[in-house]
Amino acid sequence: MPQLRFVDQHQQLLAEVEASPGDLLLDVARLADVPLHWRCGQGTCGTCKVRISHAGPALAVAPGRKERNVLLRAGLIDTAQAATDSWPDISTDWRLACHVPVGEQDWLVVCPQD
Ligand code: FES
Repeated sequence: MPQLRFVDQHQQLLAEVEASPGDLLLDVARLADVPLHWRCGQGTCGTCKVRISHAGPALAVAPGRKERNVLLRAGLIDTAQAATDSWPDISTDWRLACHVPVGEQDWLVVCPQD
């Protein structure tokens, strides 16, 4: 079971929980009472932004068109990024927690508090 460490932008621990691969990251955060900002829960508002990192090499992920469009509209990625089908799964790029299924690895999830 992957271990997820949720931290704020200053690396202060918010919660540490086990999750199952495939669980929606937003659901895991909500069940653990992580103070992650979110509104719609359906991938349209752009408020549930997180940054994800893990040990080991980056793997490719394919954020869907809807997530990329919302990230672009929220100003979290540029048009070139929005046109890219595959990203590294660990990067400085934002993801939307309501679009991200938990993977097989332990993750550090940065949840900005401002
Ligand atoms: S909660 Fe609205 S985009 Fe994730």
